[in-house]
Amino acid sequence: MNADRDIRKRAAESPPAPPSPMERLGIEIGPVAWGELAAVARLQRRAFRSSLAYRLPTLALLRLWPRARFLVARRGSRILGCAIGDQHDGNSRIVNLAVDPDARRLGIGSTLLAALEAALPTGDLSLMVEADNPGAQALYRGAGYVSTGQSANYYGPGRHGIWMRKRR
Ligand SMILES: CC(C)(COP(=O)(O)OP(=O)(O)OC[C@H]1O[C@@H](n2cnc3c(N)ncnc32)[C@H](O)[C@@H]1OP(=O)(O)O)[C@@H](O)C(=O)NCCC(=O)NCCS
Repeated sequence: MNADRDIRKRAAESPPAPPSPMERLGIEIGPVAWGELAAVARLQRRAFRSSLAYRLPTLALLRLWPRARFLVARRGSRILGCAIGDQHDGNSRIVNLAVDPDARRLGIGSTLLAALEAALPTGDLSLMVEADNPGAQALYRGAGYVSTGQSANYYGPGRHGIWMRKRR
């Protein structure tokens, strides 16, 4: 009994865990709400060229799709990033990752990716990234992904894709 009380006392006295980098920035990561989809569509237009940006109907389908996981990084009511993935044939795929141009290099992209990976626990992870996107490739390499092949003209004429995979 006394030992239990001592443990509880020590736990109560131990200092609180330091805030995470996202907490320090006032950023919360969580599943997207229906009311946030229009803001995610705006973020997509800011983050990608027009042909790659997901529009509202696609985002709504992804929000509805049971095998998809759709996370956002929000500060108050402002959407700063999104990460979308799904589970497919016993493996998991990263389908979309975007951070607002005004909020880059703060760790939001890598934190969103880690949260999405945790929400997709099935099998290995794979993704496609444009060959001419060294920043995203650096982020993925830092998270443990390796290149596994190329897909010529995947993003349009002369715009090649690189497959990347992370084993788990
Ligand atoms: C790629 C993207 C999601 C990165 O988001 P971010 O929040 O800036 O990324 P992070 O701050 O978590 O970066 C983590 C690490 O990735 C690497 N990295 C990220 N962006 C980089 C860039 N533009 N150039 C070089 N390295 C980069 C760095 O190693 C960085 O660590 P550091 O800042 O300590 O050097 C963001 O630039 C983006 O939305 N780009 C447009 C959309 C896109 O290309 N999405 C990926 C499609 S596959």
